[in-house]
Amino acid sequence: MSRPGGEITVAELPLRAELRGASAYGAPQLDVPVRLNTNENPHPPSAALVDDLATSIRSAAPHLHRYPDRDAVALRTDLAAYLSRQTGVALSVDNVWAANGSNEVLQQLLQAFGGPGRTALGFEPSYSMHPILVSGTQTTWLPMPRGADFAIDVPAAVQAVREHRPDVLFVTSPNNPTGQSSTIDELRGLLDAAPGIVVVDEAYAEFSPAPSAVELIAEYPSRLVVSRTMSKAFAFAGGRLGYLVAAPAVVEAMLLVRLPYHLSVLTQVAARAALRHAEDTLGSVAQLAAERERVSEALRTLGFHVVDSDANFVLFGRFADAAASWQRYLDAGVLIRDVGIPHYLRATMGLREENDAFLRVSSELATDLAPDVEGAPA
Ligand SMILES: Cc1ncc(COP(=O)(O)O)c(C=O)c1O
Repeated sequence: MSRPGGEITVAELPLRAELRGASAYGAPQLDVPVRLNTNENPHPPSAALVDDLATSIRSAAPHLHRYPDRDAVALRTDLAAYLSRQTGVALSVDNVWAANGSNEVLQQLLQAFGGPGRTALGFEPSYSMHPILVSGTQTTWLPMPRGADFAIDVPAAVQAVREHRPDVLFVTSPNNPTGQSSTIDELRGLLDAAPGIVVVDEAYAEFSPAPSAVELIAEYPSRLVVSRTMSKAFAFAGGRLGYLVAAPAVVEAMLLVRLPYHLSVLTQVAARAALRHAEDTLGSVAQLAAERERVSEALRTLGFHVVDSDANFVLFGRFADAAASWQRYLDAGVLIRDVGIPHYLRATMGLREENDAFLRVSSELATDLAPDVEGAPA
């Protein structure tokens, strides 16, 4: 096949200096029997939702020659209604902004509140896109370490925030890839110390018993932004819909940086259809949380260390060589995630039979464990 221009490599392009030699973000997308690597909901859309989606798209299709509602008012109204029900906090359309996945929401936040000469601070290990989005907006990234067993050491975190005074502070709750939630009191401590915007990334909130930071918006209107997604609990990863909840002024700020018509007509109608079936879809959340407890317990019985998780995944180890063990899972047909934390791997909760397959391979890999790894968190 002819590939015009195929002789040119990226290294020959006049790329921005910070992008030279960088590799693209992304977990391997491999066709294997058991895929537990990207924290999706393993349950496909119900037949009723598929029908509703098809009908919704059919009625939107004759209007595709027109641009979409660039402010996505109907969708944001539906999201506000859903979140009011889910959190018990009364929210209006003016409190909600939506984009193509919460990654785009986070990027828009950094476009508005980060940028050259500004800083963003986060507690690592955490979601690896945060520093990538930070550097993509030429914001300076300030990584701070988490404490024992990867929980935020709140007094040390508050001190770091006071000292560095970041323009943007990221708190991921529950944290990906380690699974812990932050309590409302812990968030208050960080919000009281933070001089800038505090983004609480709640991509996995529906799986957690911890109250949402949404209840703090009235208390910290000029600082707090809660980011959410339909990719996880909502089983809508392929639909690409993320949103934020904040004071109306933050939503107005998003209008300054968003691309015009960023959310297609198809995305808006599909997300509204998915929201109409929320109760049914979210029925899988309790079941996935129960699977998380079952899998964690089984792994512990096999001798693994499992970090307590409030999300739909578990971080476990400690492997002598996590990359080699990851490959052994893959060779056995189970794709999990090597998130780059020495001695640990992350597994997303799948269907019961997928989790059983994962546990069968785990029982064979218990010989890969190095329980006394020096320097591993307790
Ligand atoms: C903590 C966290 N935030 C945000 C996202 C982005 O999700 P999406 O762009 O699909 O909404 C993810 C996805 O894995 C995540 O783990």
